[in-house]
Amino acid sequence: IRMVLIGPPGAGKGTQAPNLVNKFGACHLATGDMLRSQIAKGTDLGKEAKKIMDQGGLVSDEIMVNMIKDELLNNPACKKGFILDGFPRTIPQAEKLNAMLIEQNTPLQNAVELKVDDDLLVARITGRLIHQASGRSYHKLFNPPKEDMKDDVTGEPLIQRSDDNAEALKKRLGAYHQQTEPIVEYYKKSDIWSGIDASKKPTEVWEDILIALNKN
Ligand code: AP5
Ligand code: ZN
Repeated sequence: IRMVLIGPPGAGKGTQAPNLVNKFGACHLATGDMLRSQIAKGTDLGKEAKKIMDQGGLVSDEIMVNMIKDELLNNPACKKGFILDGFPRTIPQAEKLNAMLIEQNTPLQNAVELKVDDDLLVARITGRLIHQASGRSYHKLFNPPKEDMKDDVTGEPLIQRSDDNAEALKKRLGAYHQQTEPIVEYYKKSDIWSGIDASKKPTEVWEDILIALNKN
């Protein structure tokens, strides 16, 4: 499968992506996770990105496009297909991705939009816990880990993201509506778009994603 997951912060992109990977055997490329791994390693890019991410802004298109291109071309796990999560996030990113995929003869097949109203996202974001190394996400109330504050798979501690506070969320939502939502129109034009009500329970959202993928 070759698809992108689009949706505001807290829509459930990172929650649903592992289901897609299990089902289709594609790679999961989450640009936010990739940036957080640069931060954890203390690279120059990580230092630069952290300032922008903590303020809820967007990292430059050039950096993000190069990061994704590198993975798509060189990561063997992506040969079977890919699930992009958090990319593209602007029209220029969508256009550059398209050009690259067409050049490789592997055009995008699906653009799935997870739709949730802003007012539901505050509780999702402020209650989220993540496992840093894998990017797995949990929720204090909606999706608690089996053991308190520990990752189900590795048993390692769960942490809160530094941009998961009400103030940064407001800016992330603003960036989503202004810069990312226009890519929905872009994908609608090419007939690969499906919109999903992602305010439902995670299992119901997953069923609706499968229905949407079968339709296209
Ligand atoms: P990124 O990491 O992509 O953050 P985001 O887009 O804000 O999305 P989130 O990870 O917050 O949401 P999600 O949809 O994955 O939600 P999740 O499944 O975890 O990007 C971070 C930053 O990096 C950006 O702000 C930007 O600065 C930079 N960046 C990244 N990519 C970039 C790019 N391409 N260009 C420029 N800059 C870029 O779910 C959230 C919570 O809700 C969890 O606790 C979960 O358990 C719970 N939950 C999930 N589904 C449900 C449900 N159905 N019902 C109830 N609870 C649910
Ligand atoms: Zn995510």
